[in-house]
Amino acid sequence: MGDLLDRDGRLFLSRWLKAPLRTGAVIPSSPALARLMAAQVDLSLPGPVVELGAGTGVITQALLDIGVAPDQLIVIERDEALHRVLARRFPQLSITLGDACNVRDIVAEHGDTEAAAVVSSLPLLSLPDRIQWRIVDQSLATLMPGGSLVQYTYGPNCPIPRSLQYRHGCHARSAGFALLNLPPATVWRIDRPAVVRRDRLPAPSRRRHAPAMAGASSAAGS
Ligand SMILES: C[S@@+](CC[C@H](N)C(=O)[O-])C[C@H]1O[C@@H](n2cnc3c(N)ncnc32)[C@H](O)[C@@H]1O
Repeated sequence: MGDLLDRDGRLFLSRWLKAPLRTGAVIPSSPALARLMAAQVDLSLPGPVVELGAGTGVITQALLDIGVAPDQLIVIERDEALHRVLARRFPQLSITLGDACNVRDIVAEHGDTEAAAVVSSLPLLSLPDRIQWRIVDQSLATLMPGGSLVQYTYGPNCPIPRSLQYRHGCHARSAGFALLNLPPATVWRIDRPAVVRRDRLPAPSRRRHAPAMAGASSAAGS
């Protein structure tokens, strides 16, 4: 296996072996998937771009490559070993060792109240319902009007619960498919419109139920 994987691949695999559900993938995203994720960010919006679950930084690099300014990029990674690698690799960036559950507080600590985009490669579906709910709820609440939550998934459906889309006046659409990834992945973009038209929003799904603490419906994935 050592010969098949580069250094990042080996590090990622070791983190997956330690915490498979939280790491969510055996190897980092491909450059093709990273480019597709980054391409969803609207660079004309004034707020910061927040990346959740940066891993070894392949999507971080893609965000810099499309022109996100280093002082506009807030990167959050929970795994200490991966955080150390990111901090070494991107000394010009603000890399927070922290939990995406606290994304609003982390954005506020940077002096911002809203974000232009939240770019997440968190393994939502393998996290407990209560955690999924909190992360997605906080992420959508952090978006400025016109901003987007970007999330990839290996499954066929949008991993963002419809009831949460409805709650925040957002609308999900598939933004493309990265065949050159292991496994292939679909990128979803959940847009927060500048003006919310509730009559044009999808009705909340009845099939999915929220964790008790949230009092509404849930389910997400990666
Ligand atoms: C599927 S990997 C994606 C890594 C990288 N962005 C990529 O695309 O190759 C998910 C990453 O999310 C991190 N993660 C999982 N739960 C998290 C949480 N609650 N807060 C912040 N990061 C988290 C994991 O440590 C891992 O690095």
